Amino acid sequence: MSSLLDNSAVKRTFAACLALPLVVLAGTAFADGDGVWKGGENVYEKVCGRCHEHNIGPVLKGRQLPAPYITAVARNGLRAMPAWPASFIDDKSLQQVADYISKAPAPAAKP
Ligand code: HEC
Repeated sequence: MSSLLDNSAVKRTFAACLALPLVVLAGTAFADGDGVWKGGENVYEKVCGRCHEHNIGPVLKGRQLPAPYITAVARNGLRAMPAWPASFIDDKSLQQVADYISKAPAPAAKP
């Protein structure tokens, strides 16, 4: 039994099985990402909304959060929230998404 576990091909296959779902997940997370941001709403839908519209992060819309606060949190991260570097969201697009969020009305209440 232990000779089977010592087999490096078995180990490699096992490692690949663990890694593959991560690669697939990473690919789908931003599957429509063409590297081009088309304004604040587009960034919100492609990135922020994946958590902030699905109870993973707190609701951001309708709270009149100041845009400088939003950009600071997005660049630096905040506790459970990951940081988004300029290599991923450029300064202009981050400013646009912050303006979009700070002015967006509260989402309709869900039953
Ligand atoms: C991977 C999930 C995830 C994504 C994607 C995400 N956030 Fe967050 N965000 C969180 C979580 C979780 C918190 C709460 C952090 C905490 O308090 O531990 C948070 C908190 C915040 C806060 C602070 C809210 C408050 O109540 O003070 C702001 C502002 C924010 N996020 C902005 C953004 C913006 C802008 C984007 C898109 C560029 C974004 N987030 C993308 C998970 C995410």
